[in-house]
Amino acid sequence: MTGDIVRADSNAIDRAAAALLRGELVIMPTETVYGLAGDATNPNAVARIYASKGRPQFNPLISHVRGLEDALTHAVLPPAAIRLAEAFWPGALTIVARRRTNSPIAELTCAGLASVALRAPAHPVAQALISAVGRPLAAPSANRSGRLSPTLAQHAAEDLGDAVALVLDAGPCGMGVESSVVSVDDDGHVVLLRPGAIARETLEAIVGPLADPRQDAAPSSPGMLASHYAPRARLRLDAAEAREGELYLAFGDTAAPEALNLSRRGDLTEAAANLFAHLRALDAAGADCIAVAPIPRTGLGEAINDRLSRAAAPR
Ligand code: TXA
Ligand code: MG
Repeated sequence: MTGDIVRADSNAIDRAAAALLRGELVIMPTETVYGLAGDATNPNAVARIYASKGRPQFNPLISHVRGLEDALTHAVLPPAAIRLAEAFWPGALTIVARRRTNSPIAELTCAGLASVALRAPAHPVAQALISAVGRPLAAPSANRSGRLSPTLAQHAAEDLGDAVALVLDAGPCGMGVESSVVSVDDDGHVVLLRPGAIARETLEAIVGPLADPRQDAAPSSPGMLASHYAPRARLRLDAAEAREGELYLAFGDTAAPEALNLSRRGDLTEAAANLFAHLRALDAAGADCIAVAPIPRTGLGEAINDRLSRAAAPR
């Protein structure tokens, strides 16, 4: 496959939709990160997603839909899930709920689980693509499994360009970390499976305190494996400064003005948007170890620290 990077205009979106309907894959922009998209109702397309990412088939994919109305045809959404969807869709929230047995979403998309993960992305290109295909799109982040998520079309193409018919380029992703993933069970219990681009506090303003995933048994969100989002370099976190042989990733107004900085003004939204691209840049600069400044744990800082600690985990 060619996997050409093309500007995401309406002509390119039509070509991408045709490829998706043939069972091929496409790299699409979303407001969080670039996704590796395939027809969620086509098990062959979904199998290609797992294979080209090198992703284990026990780790289910998010199905992207236009909005709440579509979502209701695929999942049983309790009132708390509907309130969340009304508050945050289209946007960077993924809702995991009981899958309707008559949903056309392939079982493989959900890794055979009784639940389905749904998100209505806000990005106009993603919305246009879903509408043009007329089916939900399965789309994990467009990186090889265990690598950094892509926030630029080139980054996605480097990892997965060979696996797709087309790379739709819409510039840098605005948010830069993946969606927040919550599960809502039939009793209305809401669990934060993955901290992400919508802060815990913002979600809690709608549905009250969020439970954390149970640490026993199997991981409830199989994607939350310890070593994930890994650059080639090692990471040292909460570092006040770089030691000999390290490159520094700064945050805020620091004593290291020459270092790459996630946000000089200490803004967590800006830091989230820069996180993966800066880690990729320091990795490409040949660092053996990246020393990362402390990042506050509030708001989007929870998702940033989550991704950093996974990237720093032993492999
Ligand atoms: O922002 C995003 O969410 C991006 C863009 C492309 O939409 N997508 C993304 O997908 O990050 P992925 O596959 O990298 O992460 C999906 C997460 C994984 O942690 C997976 O385990 C979890 O959602 N997940 C999906 N279906 C699930 C289910 N039925 N039950 C529990 N967790 C599920
Ligand atoms: Mg991912």
